[in-house]
Amino acid sequence: MAAIQDLSTHVGKEVELKGWVHNKRESKTLVFVILRDGTGFCQCIIDLNNVGEENFNVATSLGLESSIVVRGKVVADERQVGGYEIHVTSFDVIQNCADYPIAKKEHGVDFLMDQRHLWLRSKRQWAIMRVRNAVIYAIHNFFQREGFVQMDAPVFTGNACEGTTDLFETDFYGQPAYLTQSGQLYGEAMAMAMGKIYTFGPTFRAEKSKTRRHLSEFWMIEPEMAFYDIFDNMDLIEKFLRSVVAEVMEKCPEELEILERDTTALKKTAEPFIRLTYDDAVAIIRGEKEVNGKRTIDVLEDDLAQTKAQIAELKSDIEQRESAIAAGGMKKGQVNFNLNAIDKNKNTIKQLEEDERNIPQWLDSARNFTYGNDFGGSDETVLTRMFDVPVMVYDWPHQVKAFYLKRNPDNLNLARGVDLLAPEGYGEIVGGGERETNEQLLIEKIHEHELPMEAFDWYLDLRRFGSVPHAGFGLGLERLIAWICKLPHVRETIPFPRMYGRLKP
Ligand code: 4AD
Ligand code: MG
Repeated sequence: MAAIQDLSTHVGKEVELKGWVHNKRESKTLVFVILRDGTGFCQCIIDLNNVGEENFNVATSLGLESSIVVRGKVVADERQVGGYEIHVTSFDVIQNCADYPIAKKEHGVDFLMDQRHLWLRSKRQWAIMRVRNAVIYAIHNFFQREGFVQMDAPVFTGNACEGTTDLFETDFYGQPAYLTQSGQLYGEAMAMAMGKIYTFGPTFRAEKSKTRRHLSEFWMIEPEMAFYDIFDNMDLIEKFLRSVVAEVMEKCPEELEILERDTTALKKTAEPFIRLTYDDAVAIIRGEKEVNGKRTIDVLEDDLAQTKAQIAELKSDIEQRESAIAAGGMKKGQVNFNLNAIDKNKNTIKQLEEDERNIPQWLDSARNFTYGNDFGGSDETVLTRMFDVPVMVYDWPHQVKAFYLKRNPDNLNLARGVDLLAPEGYGEIVGGGERETNEQLLIEKIHEHELPMEAFDWYLDLRRFGSVPHAGFGLGLERLIAWICKLPHVRETIPFPRMYGRLKP
């Protein structure tokens, strides 16, 4: 049995492929099956003259997603998907099925999410999952190359890491336990044993929010390094992300093309990232500080004016085409050409109208951001729009960040946290920082956050026995994939998403 991804090594030879009918069209004497076998897609031509009438009739009866075995000669043909096609000599049907629920026509996302167990077979989802695989592999490659040891944090925990509001509580032999929000606290203990470690596991947040970047169960990669400060940490974040993005671009050109991903922004990660203190970031958001001679507020106002003008232009184009069609006298081909153009314009208008709705909110963020607040999605968008590379924001007001972050020794109001914001409106994909080593300050923070002290006694031991400066970060796997693939929502980046309102399939 051959795999579609290896067809280049079989040109001119006979192969056997096993897979599913992804698509099918037919003429009087030919059936064209797009076969998918998990490794790729390939057109198989079943010719009446080669297989005989009985087999040909079976071929015409094949429903979408029927499972089959085909044998035939591999012919190189650049115009075909994957660049090869199979001239079928014989085939067997494993199961001929009818009425596959996901037809070719457009379905709504809710329907597709209900059919997730089947939807995974579609070409876009296939491409996204292959990117996910490449991202995971690249992450391991990077850390292993850099001398990190992978260690696993427990999923059941007795302590909250990222605040108590979004914990999933479970019953652990009669005692309450929580599904972990982050492996970090354990990561710190493991770093003291091994020097540089990373965890890579599922994490859980009970956030009742339906946003495009929240999952209830997501995968996090959390390196933790002894003897690193906030600046070493930022160096590592930058090197790490650059390496992962470059490797994925190299390994997944076909997948990114299927997703119609313009890779300009991804390529930009080869350039130095921007590093801003929170204070500078706020000054930029509010338009008090310029970036390349521009203020956020002016940029956004320009964008809004341009968006409105574009919408008006497209609407008048649609009107002209519609009245031309209504006037009559056009050939059928010409009518179709215009109808297609109208459809395309309508889709573009939809996207532009979304911007038209969003930009005023962003302007509002820019005008009214209060110093001291955490960044919301709009604040992140306003800031990242000013740059075309990822932006790292560090030294945050300590009140808005987690209890474990170290205070800036020169300004105790600031905590040495860092967020990495991805470009193109994707926002925070990494959160991390240098850890507090002062036991007294940590105890104060645990009280301030109203966390149960007894759950943290082991954690405080790390400050009592050979305490050293250390730092780390957490990367949200699904958010990174959403950005790399430029998807509108994280739900498509994980095989079976778990989020508010979705537990099935
Ligand atoms: O910023 P967060 O909450 O940081 C931590 O959990 C730290 N303990 C990490 C560390 O320093 N070791 O989460 C880290 C990242 C976010 O930047 C985001 O990418 C992702 O995890 N994330 C989510 N992804 C999907 N759905 C959610 N609900 C997420 N919450 C956080
Ligand atoms: Mg965060």
